[in-house]
Amino acid sequence: MGSESGSGAVDPKAIPQRKLNTGASMPAIGLGTFGSDHVSPRQIAEAVKGAAAVGYRHFDCASVYGNEDAVGASLEQIVRGGVRREDLWITSKLWNDKHGEQDVIASCRKSIDDLRVDYLDLYLVHWPFPNFHPPGCDVSSRSADARPYIHDHYMKTWRKMEELVDLGLTRHIGTSNMTIPKLKLVLRDARIKPAVNEMELHPHFQQLELFQFVAENGMQAIGFSPIGSPGRPARDRTPEDTAPTEDPVIVKIAARHGIDPAVVCIQWAVKRGQTPIPFSVNARNYLANLQGAAGDLLSDEEMREIAGIDRNCRLIKGQVFLWKDVQSWEDLWDIDGTITPP
Ligand SMILES: NC(=O)c1ccc[n+]([C@@H]2O[C@H](COP(=O)([O-])OP(=O)(O)OC[C@H]3O[C@@H](n4cnc5c(N)ncnc54)[C@H](OP(=O)(O)O)[C@@H]3O)[C@@H](O)[C@H]2O)c1
Repeated sequence: MGSESGSGAVDPKAIPQRKLNTGASMPAIGLGTFGSDHVSPRQIAEAVKGAAAVGYRHFDCASVYGNEDAVGASLEQIVRGGVRREDLWITSKLWNDKHGEQDVIASCRKSIDDLRVDYLDLYLVHWPFPNFHPPGCDVSSRSADARPYIHDHYMKTWRKMEELVDLGLTRHIGTSNMTIPKLKLVLRDARIKPAVNEMELHPHFQQLELFQFVAENGMQAIGFSPIGSPGRPARDRTPEDTAPTEDPVIVKIAARHGIDPAVVCIQWAVKRGQTPIPFSVNARNYLANLQGAAGDLLSDEEMREIAGIDRNCRLIKGQVFLWKDVQSWEDLWDIDGTITPP
């Protein structure tokens, strides 16, 4: 591991990089910035500064996290402090109520302004479902504005995403929370193909088929909730959920190497080939995660053992995005391989 003079910080050059379809490099770990309704923008802004100081260069942001302005103040300080903008990787995301053709460019510009940068490295369509929900709303609430995935509508949004690249507002565009049948259509029709698909990925939700599809089609997989999102809001919890950090295999491997179970999840993710974006506002934890990403402790046998503990346990189910009353969250995820009809 590339440690700098005893501080425990990691030399950014020691962090693995992912090659994108443009030839650009993206650091293979980023800091998540969603405060799960209980971590304040101020705490997250502090963590962004602290994380940059120990070697993070990739930050996963979104307008819906409600903190881009605070995060932006930190990014400005990081650049003033001597980190070159081109050495940072800044992602933001278009929220579900801004899919309208007239809204995409304005939303991207607002995130750029709030984040106090001149351009984004990556702009994602956060979810493939247009809707509006008040922040923190109950899981059983349904919005009159909720819509299913309609490919023609998504492509209208995507054309504006492509325009963002033409305008120089973002270097890459990508998708998030997609499925194979939806991605096949987007890949067929896009002028500028998605560089990335952001998706839930942790040892209890490995999404092997989608993960391979993404790689085979020239995209990088960014993995959210890589630790199993232990701080997620109550609305994102069900009794069936499992915790990868409590899995006996993860606990055993962690004990063997003297690291946290969470760090085993991060190292597995980086070694498998995805880009985890763990959230943390705890300096010890975000440093350990970064060190884990730059380290190489897991053997091939341990990687195989972890491959064997997949529980197909989706934690972020998206229930509030359902567009009809009599539906279950599985309808969002095209489980039978076809897009769920309206
Ligand atoms: N595209 C999407 O739709 C989408 C959906 C969900 C999330 N995301 C992104 O993905 C990021 C991460 O996902 P997430 O926040 O759901 O879950 P996560 O990163 O799996 O889990 C974060 C939680 O783990 C704890 N933690 C972090 N490192 C730890 C360590 N080394 N040891 C023990 N505990 C540790 C954190 O607490 P401390 O702060 O105390 O360390 C925090 O409560 C989000 O912040 C967001 O940027 C994207």
